[in-house]
Amino acid sequence: MASTANAISLSFSTTTATTAPPTLKPQNLSYLYLRSSKPTTSVSLRLNRAGATLAAATASRVRASAQVMDVASSAPTVVEVDLGDRSYPIYIGSGLLNQHELLQRHVHGKRVLVVTNKTVAPLYLDKTIDALTSGNPNVSVESVILPDGEKYKDMDTLMKVFDKAIESRLDRKSTFVALGGGVIGDMCGYAAASFLRGVNFIQIPTTVMAQVDSSVGGKTGINHRLGKNLIGAFYQPQCVLVDTDTLNTLPDRELASGVAEVIKYGLIRDAEFFEWQEKNMHKLLARDPNALAYAIKRSCENKAEVVSLDEKESGLRATLNLGHTFGHAIETGFGYGQWLHGEAVAAGTVMAVDMSYRLGWIDDSIVKRVQNILQLAKLPTAPPETMTVDMFKSIMAVDKKVADGLLRLILLKGPLGNCVFTGDYDRKALDDTLRSFCKS
Ligand SMILES: NC(=O)c1ccc[n+]([C@@H]2O[C@H](COP(=O)([O-])OP(=O)(O)OC[C@H]3O[C@@H](n4cnc5c(N)ncnc54)[C@H](O)[C@@H]3O)[C@@H](O)[C@H]2O)c1
Ligand SMILES: [Zn+2]
Repeated sequence: MASTANAISLSFSTTTATTAPPTLKPQNLSYLYLRSSKPTTSVSLRLNRAGATLAAATASRVRASAQVMDVASSAPTVVEVDLGDRSYPIYIGSGLLNQHELLQRHVHGKRVLVVTNKTVAPLYLDKTIDALTSGNPNVSVESVILPDGEKYKDMDTLMKVFDKAIESRLDRKSTFVALGGGVIGDMCGYAAASFLRGVNFIQIPTTVMAQVDSSVGGKTGINHRLGKNLIGAFYQPQCVLVDTDTLNTLPDRELASGVAEVIKYGLIRDAEFFEWQEKNMHKLLARDPNALAYAIKRSCENKAEVVSLDEKESGLRATLNLGHTFGHAIETGFGYGQWLHGEAVAAGTVMAVDMSYRLGWIDDSIVKRVQNILQLAKLPTAPPETMTVDMFKSIMAVDKKVADGLLRLILLKGPLGNCVFTGDYDRKALDDTLRSFCKS
């Protein structure tokens, strides 16, 4: 065992379940993984010292390897989310839905409810039911197929999940499984958090956005007609299972939208990952399975580290919102559904980076590299032309990150891979950025 742990600590990117003997439980795997992720200590030190205007420290600097693992091997990569007794593994790899034991070991009780939507069900529902039941005759699976779209992430649709659960007489020991993108994950997670005051929950994310971001970290919820994600709960799953093969059916635009969040991790805390993306963006867009698995793994590691240190978003976790304040203004001002979330975040990131440069906090090489990488990813680098300075200002004034009338923003500061979450900036820089990106 000692040699296994050593091997893992030498190369961050090859933590696989193959190293475990057949009887090893997931929590033991987690232990092995944690030994390899010790360097995160530096992040918590900066969090404690710097309070709200912390710099997102980069545990990435100590990561050993940027090499791409071989996903042809059937063993999943395991990234652990370290939250004490609520810790859980994220399994990443190709063909994981065919590895039935992986999913079954996290199913508690004998009843399962799969929550999915009309688009994803014909593609992956049978496979998921098979993964849950094959060789496991004691488990019975119900499913609920919801309409597809952000506009259905609401109370009425959530009620359909409860209807099905209650009609099927599911009990406290049941497990809810989210099969789909971020909309399904957020809704199913919230349903699991509140049904009978909390049942077990598994995430099977099927979009890049969900695989690198929304399925990790336990934020669940639905929209209210007056605002996005206003009703919800922090609720962690038993495991996240990322089968990268599911991305083969994802539309190109959805793929690129998820890549915007991947780029974000590089910018806020992982310069080495950003450099890897600059060299490998064409592979990601071509859905090279090795490149996708690597990008998902590295993104999940970054998110897992941030969430472990700041689960309830008292500071550090907010840095995951780089570009999102400008981006949300675009989503609201331009109309939901016009641009995908990642597209709005991409334009928002360019604006945050422009403002960081105006403040003198970063040099112009970073500005150019951000423009370049977003262009490589075929993402927007400016807001829609209909957005005005006043629209940005009025929408951003009601952002969740406004405290005591002060809009706090995530801005880059210092060398690539460092950011701050702060309200302490020259207002003129914000005005200048808005004026430079808007025609009126
Ligand atoms: N909880 C969090 O921390 C968090 C973080 C980021 C985003 N989110 C939420 O995630 C949502 C956005 O997620 P999203 O971008 O995944 O959108 P989505 O769930 O709407 O999925 C995008 C589209 O792809 C389809 N789809 C999903 N998987 C597919 C597949 N494998 N093949 C073909 N089509 C597929 C979906 O049916 C949908 O039409 C938003 O509601 C956002 O608020 C939550
Ligand atoms: Zn986002």
